[in-house]
Amino acid sequence: MAGIYIHIPWCRNVCIYCDFHFSVSMRNKAELLESMISEIDLQKEYLGGEKIETIYFGGGTPSVLSADETGRILEHIYRLFDVSGEPEITLEANPDDMAVDYLQDLRKRGINRLSIGIQSFFDDDLKWMNRRHDAGQSIKSIEAAKRAGYDNISIDLIYGIPGMEISKWYKNLEMAFSSDIQHFSAYHLTLENKTVYAHKVKKGMLQEPDEKSGSLQFELLTEMAAKMGFSHYEISNFFLPGFISRHNTSYWKQEPYLGIGPSANSYNKISRQWNVRNNSLYIKEISKGIIPSTYEMLSADDLYNEYILTSLRTAWGADENIIKENFGAGKYDHFIKQAEALIQKGKLEKNGNSFIIRPSWKFFADGIISDMFFTG
Ligand SMILES: C[S@@+](CC[C@H](N)C(=O)[O-])C[C@H]1O[C@@H](n2cnc3c(N)ncnc32)[C@H](O)[C@@H]1O
Repeated sequence: MAGIYIHIPWCRNVCIYCDFHFSVSMRNKAELLESMISEIDLQKEYLGGEKIETIYFGGGTPSVLSADETGRILEHIYRLFDVSGEPEITLEANPDDMAVDYLQDLRKRGINRLSIGIQSFFDDDLKWMNRRHDAGQSIKSIEAAKRAGYDNISIDLIYGIPGMEISKWYKNLEMAFSSDIQHFSAYHLTLENKTVYAHKVKKGMLQEPDEKSGSLQFELLTEMAAKMGFSHYEISNFFLPGFISRHNTSYWKQEPYLGIGPSANSYNKISRQWNVRNNSLYIKEISKGIIPSTYEMLSADDLYNEYILTSLRTAWGADENIIKENFGAGKYDHFIKQAEALIQKGKLEKNGNSFIIRPSWKFFADGIISDMFFTG
């Protein structure tokens, strides 16, 4: 079982908070797409013939591609890989790109799940973020996806924005739950280096994310999601029965995946490789038959820390048997000692063989997880 991630490295404008790799110049779009097709050829052995269960177009903004361009990439994957009969094929779409006929064309090419970058149902938040769409388009985009025939729709929302009142977050959630979505991701705003946001905070023009209000908003989020029948399966992710994100779940269960395109990373259980975050350099190297990536063999400590990092963010938690079998007695003893101390402090709980972060501590998961790392 494996997945393929395709990074589409363009955006029409710059959202102030975003540090994913993208360019706003589409000058070399055709050439770069050809390079991505060539990279698929070069990487065709990477997953060792494993069946492909999920394909994910992320970005950047994958909805800047035409349906034909997206279809061409998919056809090429189908030609070279053993794709399952019932794959999950997701495309991240921005609300301002979501015309019904375009979405229908994407469906014909094989896209069967949309992840819509709504972020907020309020114009002032969207302006603050420098999004291209407005609140009306946030609502219309979900309706367009339904009309185009999608029955597996996810949306992204952001909370913890400086000055955001809890009543506004409540209304955002009400809007989300009153629309026909099956999954959503709600991210606490993070201040990433080298973003417009970071620059403005440094100059005193904007405030840092509001962690205190953020933790109350997280509490409201989890309560409302539970009432609406959504399962909270990863810190930022929620699904209705039958609509878990298979692709993201496979990352959190350490399944192998191949990443195609500038800045994409790949993982095959023993190593990780990162493609260069530069569109021109990517094209240049691929034209010479070279995959422009840095490669890292994962040490036993890295593999253990990755397992802790991903599993403790999920509802199923870290399994002591997996730790014992995969990482050996030394790491197991370290884990049990740390986990027991965290249980004493009320931060972790044990369910069967699994250790899970308690609901009231989930918002602070990052700190708990780094306390559990093995540093030698
Ligand atoms: C790869 S981005 C999606 C890109 C898509 N083109 C869009 O803008 O809607 C995935 C999601 O991560 C979230 N995100 C990105 N940067 C963030 C940040 N600094 N803080 C919180 N959420 C962030 C946003 O909700 C975004 O939709």
